[in-house]
Amino acid sequence: MKVHVLTLFPRLFEAFLEESIVGIAADKGALQVDLVDFRRFATDRHHTVDDRPYGGGPGMVIKPEPVFAAVDEVLQRSGRPGMPKILLTPQGAPFDQRRAEWLAAQPECLVLCGRYEGFDERIHRGYDWLEWSLGPFVLSGGEIAAMALIEASARLLPGVLGHEDSARQDSFVNDLLDHPHYTRPERFRDQSVPDVLLSGDHERIARWRRQEAETRTASWASRHTACTERQER
Ligand SMILES: C[S@@+](CC[C@H](N)C(=O)[O-])C[C@H]1O[C@@H](n2cnc3c(N)ncnc32)[C@H](O)[C@@H]1O
Repeated sequence: MKVHVLTLFPRLFEAFLEESIVGIAADKGALQVDLVDFRRFATDRHHTVDDRPYGGGPGMVIKPEPVFAAVDEVLQRSGRPGMPKILLTPQGAPFDQRRAEWLAAQPECLVLCGRYEGFDERIHRGYDWLEWSLGPFVLSGGEIAAMALIEASARLLPGVLGHEDSARQDSFVNDLLDHPHYTRPERFRDQSVPDVLLSGDHERIARWRRQEAETRTASWASRHTACTERQER
């Protein structure tokens, strides 16, 4: 999986790309991230990427020229002009596990991170973007959202997680949320590991885990519905 990330802050990705599962995915060659600082594509002396909004108002808007030049360069260099192009915006479709799975199945994609007040509208209209959001809140830039996309999909790539099963049993992968997990010590601050997990009876353990997962899923679904209804009101 190759991801071209267009950003004004490539250094934000440095530690992220070296550590933990994402670092392992990169070391194994399963993930390749190409960081493109689109400031490089600004042609004026000061490498200007933003300007004041037409019509007035606060903040600065990302100019179209450097973004179009950077996107065109990546598409041309890759030889895959049809690759998925993801524009990060709080107004986009919510990123979720289904989208992470879809992304993990793409050999190559481009992710555009905004800053300031966001993009000149002609950028939105200039390509066949998938506009995705990390959630209904406003970050200062798209970089954390891009990292979320990369991490959620990289852990699904074959051979990246130590145990292939761990991604399969994760929440949202199936219709059920994950069950509770315990490790040593057996007793900690008045809380004990449930007896069933110490029983060695694998059928009982599987049944207990399934029941716990079902209870959590039902509770999550009712909280989620209540939350959506509140937002609709
Ligand atoms: C401060 S935000 C711009 C917000 C914009 N003025 C609005 O109200 O919709 C700057 C950039 O951060 C990124 N961003 C902010 N919140 C995001 C979110 N929830 N999901 C994805 N990207 C986000 C986008 O790339 C956006 O262009």
